[in-house]
Amino acid sequence: MKRITIAIDGFSSTGKSTVAKMLAKELDYIYVDTGAMYRAVTLFAMRHLYIKEGHFDKEALLRNLFKVSVKFKMNPSTGIADVYLNSENVEREIRTLEVSNFVSQIAAISEVRHLLVEKQKEMGKEKGIVMDGRDIGTVVFPEAELKVFMTATADERARRRYEELIAKGDNVTYEAVLENVVKRDALDTSREDSPLVKADDAILLDNTHTNIEDQFHILLQLSKDRI
Ligand code: C5P
Repeated sequence: MKRITIAIDGFSSTGKSTVAKMLAKELDYIYVDTGAMYRAVTLFAMRHLYIKEGHFDKEALLRNLFKVSVKFKMNPSTGIADVYLNSENVEREIRTLEVSNFVSQIAAISEVRHLLVEKQKEMGKEKGIVMDGRDIGTVVFPEAELKVFMTATADERARRRYEELIAKGDNVTYEAVLENVVKRDALDTSREDSPLVKADDAILLDNTHTNIEDQFHILLQLSKDRI
Protein backbone atom coordinates (compact mmCIF):
# COMPACT_ATOMS: atom_id res chain seq x y z
CA MET A 1 0.00 0.00 0.00
CA LYS A 2 1.23 3.51 -0.84
CA ARG A 3 2.46 5.50 2.16
CA ILE A 4 1.52 9.17 2.14
CA THR A 5 2.24 12.40 4.03
CA ILE A 6 -0.63 13.84 6.04
CA ALA A 7 -0.40 17.49 7.11
CA ILE A 8 -2.84 18.72 9.76
CA ASP A 9 -2.77 22.43 10.49
CA GLY A 10 -5.08 24.77 12.31
CA PHE A 11 -5.79 27.04 15.22
CA SER A 12 -4.71 26.20 18.76
CA SER A 13 -6.73 23.70 20.77
CA THR A 14 -8.79 22.45 17.84
CA GLY A 15 -8.04 18.87 18.85
CA LYS A 16 -5.57 18.41 15.99
CA SER A 17 -3.18 16.30 17.98
CA THR A 18 -5.84 13.97 19.40
CA VAL A 19 -7.25 13.10 16.01
CA ALA A 20 -3.79 13.03 14.37
CA LYS A 21 -2.61 10.48 16.94
CA MET A 22 -5.65 8.28 16.33
CA LEU A 23 -5.09 8.45 12.59
CA ALA A 24 -1.37 7.62 12.85
CA LYS A 25 -2.16 4.65 15.07
CA GLU A 26 -4.80 3.32 12.69
CA LEU A 27 -2.56 3.69 9.62
CA ASP A 28 0.58 2.56 11.47
CA TYR A 29 2.25 5.88 10.60
CA ILE A 30 4.67 8.04 12.59
CA TYR A 31 2.97 10.89 14.46
CA VAL A 32 4.79 14.18 15.03
CA ASP A 33 3.43 16.99 17.19
CA THR A 34 5.41 20.01 15.97
CA GLY A 35 3.82 22.29 18.58
CA ALA A 36 5.68 20.21 21.19
CA MET A 37 8.96 21.15 19.51
CA TYR A 38 8.23 24.90 19.71
CA ARG A 39 7.07 24.40 23.29
CA ALA A 40 10.35 22.61 24.17
CA VAL A 41 12.43 25.54 22.85
CA THR A 42 10.18 27.90 24.86
CA LEU A 43 10.80 25.83 28.00
CA PHE A 44 14.54 26.07 27.35
CA ALA A 45 14.25 29.87 27.08
CA MET A 46 12.19 30.07 30.28
CA ARG A 47 14.57 27.89 32.24
CA HIS A 48 17.59 29.91 31.19
CA LEU A 49 15.79 33.12 32.09
CA TYR A 50 15.84 34.51 28.56
CA ILE A 51 12.17 35.03 29.36
CA LYS A 52 11.62 36.60 32.76
CA GLU A 53 8.70 38.57 34.14
CA GLY A 54 7.33 39.22 30.68
CA HIS A 55 10.67 40.40 29.29
CA PHE A 56 12.20 38.38 26.51
CA ASP A 57 15.93 38.54 25.64
CA LYS A 58 15.84 37.29 22.06
CA GLU A 59 19.56 37.85 21.42
CA ALA A 60 20.54 35.71 24.40
CA LEU A 61 18.29 32.91 23.15
CA LEU A 62 19.77 33.11 19.66
CA ARG A 63 23.34 32.98 21.02
CA ASN A 64 22.46 29.81 22.92
CA LEU A 65 20.21 28.12 20.39
CA PHE A 66 23.03 25.76 19.43
CA LYS A 67 22.66 24.18 22.89
CA VAL A 68 19.07 23.11 22.15
CA SER A 69 18.36 19.56 21.10
CA VAL A 70 14.73 18.55 20.58
CA LYS A 71 14.02 14.88 19.91
CA PHE A 72 11.18 12.38 20.15
CA LYS A 73 11.43 9.00 21.84
CA MET A 74 8.76 6.33 21.87
CA ASN A 75 6.98 5.89 25.20
CA PRO A 76 6.14 2.17 25.34
CA SER A 77 3.32 2.68 27.84
CA THR A 78 1.36 5.06 25.56
CA GLY A 79 2.67 3.98 22.16
CA ILE A 80 3.24 7.68 21.37
CA ALA A 81 6.59 9.49 21.13
CA ASP A 82 7.36 11.90 23.98
CA VAL A 83 9.34 15.07 23.38
CA TYR A 84 12.83 15.38 24.88
CA LEU A 85 14.73 18.60 25.51
CA ASN A 86 18.46 17.81 25.76
CA SER A 87 17.79 14.20 26.85
CA GLU A 88 15.10 15.12 29.41
CA ASN A 89 11.50 14.06 28.90
CA VAL A 90 9.58 17.36 29.06
CA GLU A 91 6.23 16.10 27.84
CA ARG A 92 4.44 17.38 30.95
CA GLU A 93 6.34 20.64 31.53
CA ILE A 94 5.66 21.95 28.02
CA ARG A 95 1.86 21.75 28.39
CA THR A 96 1.45 24.43 31.08
CA LEU A 97 -0.31 27.74 30.50
CA GLU A 98 2.99 29.54 31.25
CA VAL A 99 4.63 27.87 28.26
CA SER A 100 1.50 28.49 26.15
CA ASN A 101 1.73 32.18 27.01
CA PHE A 102 5.21 32.54 25.49
CA VAL A 103 5.37 29.93 22.78
CA SER A 104 4.00 32.06 19.96
CA GLN A 105 6.71 34.69 20.53
CA ILE A 106 9.39 32.02 20.30
CA ALA A 107 7.73 30.44 17.25
CA ALA A 108 7.83 33.77 15.42
CA ILE A 109 11.67 33.74 15.39
CA SER A 110 12.99 32.67 11.99
CA GLU A 111 16.13 31.01 13.40
CA VAL A 112 13.99 28.83 15.69
CA ARG A 113 11.67 27.91 12.82
CA HIS A 114 14.60 27.06 10.56
CA LEU A 115 16.10 24.73 13.16
CA LEU A 116 12.83 22.87 13.77
CA VAL A 117 11.54 22.79 10.18
CA GLU A 118 14.78 21.05 9.08
CA LYS A 119 14.18 18.34 11.69
CA GLN A 120 10.54 18.00 10.66
CA LYS A 121 11.44 17.56 7.00
CA GLU A 122 14.00 14.92 7.96
CA MET A 123 11.40 13.01 10.03
CA GLY A 124 9.01 12.95 7.07
CA LYS A 125 11.54 11.88 4.45
CA GLU A 126 10.19 8.34 4.19
CA LYS A 127 6.51 9.43 4.21
CA GLY A 128 4.07 7.36 6.29
CA ILE A 129 3.72 10.32 8.64
CA VAL A 130 0.97 12.38 10.24
CA MET A 131 2.33 15.77 11.32
CA ASP A 132 0.33 18.50 13.00
CA GLY A 133 1.13 22.17 13.46
CA ARG A 134 0.61 25.56 11.84
CA ASP A 135 2.76 25.49 8.68
CA ILE A 136 2.95 21.81 7.77
CA GLY A 137 0.88 22.02 4.58
CA THR A 138 2.33 25.38 3.55
CA VAL A 139 6.04 25.16 4.46
CA VAL A 140 7.17 21.79 5.82
CA PHE A 141 5.40 19.47 3.36
CA PRO A 142 3.84 21.59 0.60
CA GLU A 143 3.64 18.36 -1.45
CA ALA A 144 1.66 16.42 1.18
CA GLU A 145 -0.96 14.13 -0.37
CA LEU A 146 -3.50 15.08 2.29
CA LYS A 147 -3.77 18.50 3.92
CA VAL A 148 -6.40 19.33 6.49
CA PHE A 149 -6.99 22.69 8.15
CA MET A 150 -8.87 22.48 11.45
CA THR A 151 -10.83 25.22 13.10
CA ALA A 152 -13.56 25.74 15.73
CA THR A 153 -14.91 28.74 17.62
CA ALA A 154 -12.51 30.26 20.15
CA ASP A 155 -15.02 29.62 22.98
CA GLU A 156 -15.27 25.94 22.17
CA ARG A 157 -11.51 25.54 21.83
CA ALA A 158 -10.90 27.33 25.13
CA ARG A 159 -13.51 25.16 26.84
CA ARG A 160 -11.82 21.97 25.65
CA ARG A 161 -8.33 23.16 26.63
CA TYR A 162 -9.59 24.37 30.03
CA GLU A 163 -11.13 20.99 30.79
CA GLU A 164 -7.92 19.23 29.76
CA LEU A 165 -5.79 21.42 32.05
CA ILE A 166 -8.19 21.05 34.98
CA ALA A 167 -8.23 17.25 34.52
CA LYS A 168 -4.41 17.31 34.80
CA GLY A 169 -4.69 19.24 38.06
CA ASP A 170 -3.52 22.64 36.73
CA ASN A 171 -4.84 25.68 38.53
CA VAL A 172 -6.25 27.80 35.69
CA THR A 173 -9.36 29.81 34.93
CA TYR A 174 -11.46 29.53 31.78
CA GLU A 175 -10.92 33.26 31.11
CA ALA A 176 -7.12 32.88 31.20
CA VAL A 177 -7.28 29.95 28.78
CA LEU A 178 -9.60 31.84 26.42
CA GLU A 179 -7.30 34.86 26.50
CA ASN A 180 -4.34 32.63 25.62
CA VAL A 181 -6.18 30.95 22.74
CA VAL A 182 -7.21 34.31 21.24
CA LYS A 183 -3.75 35.83 21.72
CA ARG A 184 -1.98 32.87 20.12
CA ASP A 185 -4.36 32.90 17.14
CA ALA A 186 -3.50 36.58 16.58
CA LEU A 187 0.27 36.08 16.90
CA ASP A 188 0.33 32.90 14.82
CA THR A 189 -1.70 34.37 11.95
CA SER A 190 0.12 37.73 11.86
CA ARG A 191 3.79 36.73 12.11
CA GLU A 192 6.00 37.36 9.10
CA ASP A 193 7.69 33.97 8.87
CA SER A 194 5.34 31.07 8.02
CA PRO A 195 2.10 32.52 9.40
CA LEU A 196 -0.79 30.24 10.17
CA VAL A 197 -2.82 30.16 6.98
CA LYS A 198 -4.87 27.50 5.24
CA ALA A 199 -3.04 26.06 2.23
CA ASP A 200 -5.09 26.52 -0.96
CA ASP A 201 -5.38 22.77 -1.37
CA ALA A 202 -6.17 21.98 2.29
CA ILE A 203 -9.57 20.62 3.29
CA LEU A 204 -11.28 22.83 5.87
CA LEU A 205 -12.70 21.01 8.88
CA ASP A 206 -14.72 23.07 11.37
CA ASN A 207 -15.11 20.79 14.38
CA THR A 208 -17.08 23.10 16.70
CA HIS A 209 -19.94 20.59 16.61
CA THR A 210 -18.10 17.42 15.58
CA ASN A 211 -16.86 14.94 18.15
CA ILE A 212 -13.45 13.27 18.02
CA GLU A 213 -14.77 9.93 16.73
CA ASP A 214 -16.51 11.60 13.78
CA GLN A 215 -13.46 13.72 12.99
CA PHE A 216 -11.32 10.60 13.04
CA HIS A 217 -13.61 8.81 10.58
CA ILE A 218 -13.64 11.80 8.23
CA LEU A 219 -9.84 11.96 8.23
CA LEU A 220 -9.48 8.20 7.88
CA GLN A 221 -11.71 8.20 4.82
CA LEU A 222 -9.82 11.16 3.29
CA SER A 223 -6.57 9.27 3.87
CA LYS A 224 -7.83 6.01 2.39
CA ASP A 225 -9.01 7.88 -0.71
CA ARG A 226 -5.38 8.86 -1.30
CA ILE A 227 -3.55 5.64 -0.43
O1 C5P B 1 0.09 22.94 18.64
P1 C5P B 1 0.39 23.73 19.89
O2 C5P B 1 -0.77 24.51 20.39
O3 C5P B 1 1.04 22.92 20.96
O4 C5P B 1 1.48 24.78 19.40
C1 C5P B 1 2.03 25.74 20.26
C2 C5P B 1 2.50 26.96 19.48
O5 C5P B 1 3.63 26.60 18.68
C3 C5P B 1 1.51 27.56 18.50
O6 C5P B 1 0.61 28.46 19.12
C4 C5P B 1 2.44 28.26 17.52
O7 C5P B 1 2.83 29.51 18.00
C5 C5P B 1 3.66 27.35 17.49
N1 C5P B 1 3.69 26.43 16.34
C6 C5P B 1 4.14 26.93 15.14
N2 C5P B 1 4.30 26.10 14.08
C7 C5P B 1 4.01 24.80 14.17
C8 C5P B 1 3.51 24.27 15.39
C9 C5P B 1 3.34 25.13 16.46
O8 C5P B 1 4.41 28.12 15.02
N3 C5P B 1 4.19 23.99 13.11
